[in-house]
Amino acid sequence: MKFFVDTADVKEIRDLNDLGLLDGVTTNPSLIMKSGRDITEVTKEICDIVEGPVSAEVTALDHDGMMKEAEVLAKIASNICIKVPLTPDGLKTCKALTSQDQMVNVTLCFSANQALLAAKAGATFISPFVGRLDDLGLDGMELISEIRTIYDNYDFDTEILTASIRTVNHVKQAAMIGSDVATVPPATLHALFKHPLTDKGIDAFLADWAKTGQKIA
Ligand code: E4P
Repeated sequence: MKFFVDTADVKEIRDLNDLGLLDGVTTNPSLIMKSGRDITEVTKEICDIVEGPVSAEVTALDHDGMMKEAEVLAKIASNICIKVPLTPDGLKTCKALTSQDQMVNVTLCFSANQALLAAKAGATFISPFVGRLDDLGLDGMELISEIRTIYDNYDFDTEILTASIRTVNHVKQAAMIGSDVATVPPATLHALFKHPLTDKGIDAFLADWAKTGQKIA
């Protein structure tokens, strides 16, 4: 499973990329707002750090407006992936852009039928939002399972990009279902490393090692 980080925080992206774990980045208007940066400037900086796809979202709601914004965003770097909302105009834009070989991430997906439409529109990625479904008392992971079944039934190339991840358990479940990608907030990505027995084991090994008086040199 590929790991994308869900942030526009350049320092976080640089740190995670240095670990060699990052396959891409997703941003959205809320994350750009949180960064306090200009969208073109921050997105360019992110694209210079990460080799993989960097999703940048259009804000127009009509097809012509989305195409114009996509043209501006696509000029930022060759690894830009244009993010469009799951609406009729969004999917029309998706079809037009992917037929020009532009990567497209269809966002705000909350049903299997929406994911089916996105695949038919040639989306590179579909972003089902599991956390926001869980917030309503629904089962976000069930949606990932449904989409996996549908995409496998028809050999769709669209990659499932599990989004709106809130917990490490979401990451594990997405991997078990066979999601192609998970976009994970930085804090949750860091939490994936953690286990109290790992820390306890390191402490015990280091204490015993100190007693040997040896050095590896
Ligand atoms: C995905 O691309 C979105 O940016 C993101 O995962 C949304 O997550 P949220 O529901 O925590 O805002």
